[in-house]
Amino acid sequence: MQDFLQLACERYSVRKYSDKPIEDDKLEKILKAGQVGPTANNFQPQRIFVIKSDEALEKVRSFTPYCFNAPLVLMICYDRNVSWNAIDGHDSGIDDATIAITQMMLEAWDLGIGSVWVRGYDKRELDKLFDLPDNLVSVALLPIGYPSAESKPSPLHSRNIDMDDLVTYL
Ligand SMILES: Cc1cc2nc3c(=O)[nH]c(=O)nc-3n(C[C@H](O)[C@H](O)[C@H](O)COP(=O)(O)O)c2cc1C
Repeated sequence: MQDFLQLACERYSVRKYSDKPIEDDKLEKILKAGQVGPTANNFQPQRIFVIKSDEALEKVRSFTPYCFNAPLVLMICYDRNVSWNAIDGHDSGIDDATIAITQMMLEAWDLGIGSVWVRGYDKRELDKLFDLPDNLVSVALLPIGYPSAESKPSPLHSRNIDMDDLVTYL
């Protein structure tokens, strides 16, 4: 079993994918990782769209260049009618969805499958593209697939802030 910290350090954003399709059992494991994360009050508002058909893939690929021709793209949303609101009005759906995305990225990596978190687009346009109802809030796209032989981490991957800047002990 791989050491978790090693997995977390080695995972990098994959922006070059091979054509090899993701096996169904591996996709199921990745989606399972998105199911089981902690959510506020356990309300589980995260919703995952698997963009898989040629038609849907073409649609999302023409919407953003950041799909990098990955064989599959996940669109992660949360349902604001389901998510828990904190006493100060904060909608925890965003927290719940981002935890699900993180868990899926790490599970994918554990299976040898790469991904990249994508939010460099106009959310309003994405919501229109997929006719999302008002209660569904899109959070990110997650292209996933086997890294191509030429895939390597970008220089940003190893640029980590100093522990002294990251951590404050009180
Ligand atoms: C909220 C968020 C939005 C991001 N949006 C994009 C994006 O639109 N396109 C892209 O290529 N990478 C995007 N990334 C990936 C980051 O650029 C990447 O995680 C960062 O440079 C660190 O590199 P690493 O993931 O290889 O460690 C995003 C990451 C996060 C967390």
